[in-house]
Amino acid sequence: MSKFLSDAGLDLLFRDARTHNAWQDKEVSDVLLEAIYDLAKLGPTSANCSPMRVVYLRSPEAKARLKPALSEGNADKTMAAPVTAIIGHDLEFFERLPEIFPHAPDARTWFAGKPDHIETTAFRNGSLQGAYFIVAARALGLDCGPMSGFDNAAVDREFFPGGTVKSNFLCNLGHGDPKGLFPRSPRLEFDDACKIL
Ligand SMILES: Cc1cc2nc3c(=O)[nH]c(=O)nc-3n(C[C@H](O)[C@H](O)[C@H](O)COP(=O)(O)O)c2cc1C
Repeated sequence: MSKFLSDAGLDLLFRDARTHNAWQDKEVSDVLLEAIYDLAKLGPTSANCSPMRVVYLRSPEAKARLKPALSEGNADKTMAAPVTAIIGHDLEFFERLPEIFPHAPDARTWFAGKPDHIETTAFRNGSLQGAYFIVAARALGLDCGPMSGFDNAAVDREFFPGGTVKSNFLCNLGHGDPKGLFPRSPRLEFDDACKIL
């Protein structure tokens, strides 16, 4: 067994993976939705805090609740996607630390009563987990359409009424229709984005 991903694997996850805007009429099973999470949850987070929370919207009723919060350019493609995931983060993530970071019994106290630290940690690690989520979905043969063009406060009111979970971004999921792709945009070259000191 090789210790690095095959070329085909790298193509699947990165080189051929695109942000999709149109969707084939193919269902995404609950088993796959669970499998995405079961891979994504293994990516690292600080103190294993795991703040990401996901709500999958599949039914027309659930999608209709999302529609008023979407920007105009994101509405039709999101209504057409087989599933839309709301990627959020729980500002009370630290309450689970005794269970998920057991080797530091006082880890809860690193955060309790420190709202700025809570927010930074939840957003940073929730965003990382959102990226693991995209890569996991691609590894399972799905296509993604991540979006930040929506009214976060409206989504939070509708789907996270308790107030402790905040939406970060949305991710349409399914089997993309290549006809809806924009041409691939250039990326910054290594020397523009990186330094080796
Ligand atoms: C967090 C995030 C938010 C995005 N928001 C939107 C959006 O609101 N609407 C949209 O059409 N595309 C959105 N995109 C798609 C990006 O424009 C796209 O991923 C980028 O141009 C790279 O495209 P490629 O993956 O096809 O190379 C978003 C992507 C990410 C990761």
